Amino acid sequence: MSGYQALVLGASGTVGAAFLQHFQSDPACELALGLSRQGDLRFQLENEDSMAQCASVLRDPSGPYGLCEFKWIIDATGALTIDGQGPEKRLEALNAAQLMRQFEVNAVGPALLMKHFLPLLTSQEAAWYATLSARVGSIEDNHKGGWYSYRAAKAARNMLLQTAAIETARKKPLAVLAALQPGTVQSPLSASFVAAKDAMAAPESVSKLMRVLSRLKPTGRAQFVDHAGQVISW
Ligand SMILES: NC(=O)c1ccc[n+]([C@@H]2O[C@H](COP(=O)([O-])OP(=O)(O)OC[C@H]3O[C@@H](n4cnc5c(N)ncnc54)[C@H](OP(=O)(O)O)[C@@H]3O)[C@@H](O)[C@H]2O)c1
Repeated sequence: MSGYQALVLGASGTVGAAFLQHFQSDPACELALGLSRQGDLRFQLENEDSMAQCASVLRDPSGPYGLCEFKWIIDATGALTIDGQGPEKRLEALNAAQLMRQFEVNAVGPALLMKHFLPLLTSQEAAWYATLSARVGSIEDNHKGGWYSYRAAKAARNMLLQTAAIETARKKPLAVLAALQPGTVQSPLSASFVAAKDAMAAPESVSKLMRVLSRLKPTGRAQFVDHAGQVISW
């Protein structure tokens, strides 16, 4: 794995920052790049042009990073509470605006990230594109109910990834595409719903996820796994 390049989308977030730190501290990683809503090269999930612009910089041979070919791309973007609206407990709490925003941030944006950044994944050797999903996005595993829009948007994110995985298998047969459940991680996203003592620190989650990801083999399909290496039903 010497001289490889890694890209973290949503590197300002808790899990994203831990992924970026992981790659930055690996001597074999020659370029560890983190993009987010801040910085010189920035994108917003609601703005496809901003993603296209970032991707065009990364494939410009005379740009600041040269022509990038990433071995690892991690999409760590996502949100549980959006515009002050937390997860719905009952049907009567559903509203169109919240449903649409959840889909925009947790499914549509990440799908457009795949559109613009998957082409930058190397096809020359083993490579990984992983997106931060959530166990609650599993339709099969939904035993508790509630959290309607977040669950549905994560399930949509999973379907978009699966569909991209089938197409990608033809062009990049060595690529692994994965939807990740990071465990319950101490972060602003989880802070209102779980006590810090009941959640993992992000570096622990990321080191477990990296171990799990590294062991996945290309199957021509996307794989939905948690930090412990357990396969999650779609
Ligand atoms: N934490 C957990 O326990 C847990 C459990 C299961 C799944 N997950 C998933 O893991 C992922 C990361 O979670 P986290 O705990 O690290 O959350 P976090 O600290 O809140 O980070 C979220 C990241 O997404 C970015 N983001 C949110 N809305 C955006 C937008 N409209 N445009 C561009 N970027 C946007 C944030 O950017 P800004 O910094 O600019 O806000 C940040 O980089 C999420 O997809 C989450 O659903 C987390």
